[in-house]
Amino acid sequence: EKGTYPHYMLKEIDEQPLVMRKIIQAYQDINGDLAIDSDIVKAMNDADRIYIVACGTSYHAGLVGKQMIEQLAEIPVEVHVASEMGYNMPLLSKKPLFIFISQSGETADSRAVLVKVKELGYKAITITNVPGSTLSREADYTLLLHAGPEIAVASTKAYTAQIAVLSILASVVGKKADLDLVHELGIVANAMEVLCDSKEEFEKMAFEYFTVTRNAFFIGRALDYYVCLEGALKLKEISYIQAEGFAGGELKHGTIALIEDGTPIVALATQENVNWSIRGNVKEVVARGANPCIISMKGLDTNEDRFVIPEVHELLTPLVSVVPLQLLAYYAALHRDCDVDKPRNLAKSVTVE
Ligand code: F6R
Repeated sequence: EKGTYPHYMLKEIDEQPLVMRKIIQAYQDINGDLAIDSDIVKAMNDADRIYIVACGTSYHAGLVGKQMIEQLAEIPVEVHVASEMGYNMPLLSKKPLFIFISQSGETADSRAVLVKVKELGYKAITITNVPGSTLSREADYTLLLHAGPEIAVASTKAYTAQIAVLSILASVVGKKADLDLVHELGIVANAMEVLCDSKEEFEKMAFEYFTVTRNAFFIGRALDYYVCLEGALKLKEISYIQAEGFAGGELKHGTIALIEDGTPIVALATQENVNWSIRGNVKEVVARGANPCIISMKGLDTNEDRFVIPEVHELLTPLVSVVPLQLLAYYAALHRDCDVDKPRNLAKSVTVE
C-alpha cells in the first residue's frame, strides 16, 4: 500500500535507508559480521572470471558491481546486457561463474541466457528481490535483495539493494580487513535519509532544469559514469525527456554537437581521482551554452556545485548519488504531468524476449 504517498515511486525512494539497514541485518552472522553462504563464496573463489548478466536498471547495478568485485575480490568481471549475450555469447574463460541480477527474477532476456549457461554446465548465482522466482529456481544459488515489493515501474530501491548486496558479496569474498562494510553501509543509510529529507530542493531543481527542455545529458567518470546511465534512464522512462548518460571524456567525441543554449547537463563529482577532469568536461559544455547542474560529494565540492551529497566510502557513492537523480526524475515527471508509476509503453516485468 502506498499509504499517504502520492506515488509508489516516491515511497520506494524513501524506503531506501530502511532497505539498506534490512540488508545489513539479513547478511549478518551471529557475531555481527557480514556473511555469505559458503558455497557461493567457494564458487566465486573457484572462478577465473565472473560474467554479470542483466537488463536495464539491473544492468546498471551490475556495472557498479563489477568495480566492487574487481577492487575488493580481485576477480575479473565482465558485464553483459542479457538480450545481446543470448545471441552473441562472448568467448568464455576456462572457469566462468555467472551472476544474474534481476529485481523480478522473471525477465525473459536474462532467463534465455541462464538456460544456455545451464546447458553449458556452468554455475550461476541469481541476485533477486523475489524468492521462488524463475531465475532464482533455475540458478544454483540465490542472494535476496530484501527490498520488499517494488510496485512502481521505474526501479529505485531494487537498484540500490542490488548494489548493496553486490558490495557485501565482493567484500566477503575479498576479505579486506581495512573495510568495515557494516559501518560504511550504515553511513550510506544515514546519507540517504539526508537526501530523502531534501525533497523540496530536488523539486526546485527539477523545475529549474527539466520543465521545458527536450533533452538532457548526465556526465560522470568512473563509478559516476555508471550512475549517470541510471539517472538518464530514470529521467527518460518517466518524464519522456530524451536523456543520455555519458562518460565525461566521451562527450567531446561527437555528442557535444547536441549541446545548445540551455541544454541541462547533470554532472556527478563523487570520485576524487577524476574530480578535476569531470569539472573540466563541465567547462567544455558550459562554453557551448549548457546549463550545468553539478552534484558533488562533501570534501570534493566547490562553490559552483548545485547540490552536495554527504560523504560516504568512495566505492559506495552510487548508493547515495543515485538518490538525487531518482528524485529529479520523479519531480520532472510531476512537473510535466506524466504518469509517474505507470509510464507509457512500459511494463513492470518484461517476460517476453
Ligand atoms: C527501469 C527498469 C527496467 C528493469 C529491467 C530489468 O526502471 O525497471 O530497466 O530494470 O527491465 O528488470 P529485472 O531487474 O526485473 O530483471
